[in-house]
Amino acid sequence: MKKVITYGTFDLLHYGHIRLLQRAKEMGDYLIVGLSTDKFNELQKHKESYNNFAERKYILEAIRYVDEVIPEQDWNQKIADIQKYDISLFVMGSDWQGKFDFLKPYCQVTYLSRTPGISTTKIKNDLK
Ligand code: CTP
Repeated sequence: MKKVITYGTFDLLHYGHIRLLQRAKEMGDYLIVGLSTDKFNELQKHKESYNNFAERKYILEAIRYVDEVIPEQDWNQKIADIQKYDISLFVMGSDWQGKFDFLKPYCQVTYLSRTPGISTTKIKNDLK
């Protein structure tokens, strides 16, 4: 079984997220999402989500492309996750192009093109 992993906050889930998750799942058999915890968002990513971790996890688990959601609590947990979950492919959107190439000794690393015109930040700004 080919296991794929991706990471993110996935707040105010939108079609750009779904397109990312759909393509990631289609590249393997089992998709794990490393979901940023509220503390990780606040202290390390310096952003505050509208939905808390439990809500974002609940929403992601309802998406047909997502098989499992694990917490992302630290920038440095990825190698351990890849080994623990026997990951074959690491996928991120193209806004992260090149940033995770250091994982290439551990699994395949692929960047998927971002869906233009939509982001959590845009939704928040548009609704202000
Ligand atoms: N993503 C995407 N297309 C978009 C928005 C996000 O493919 N239009 C991807 C990102 O590249 C990332 C994943 O979805 O791999 C999770 O992104 P996240 O940062 O949670 O979503 P954004 O909408 O980019 O949030 P923000 O505006 O807070 O940065």
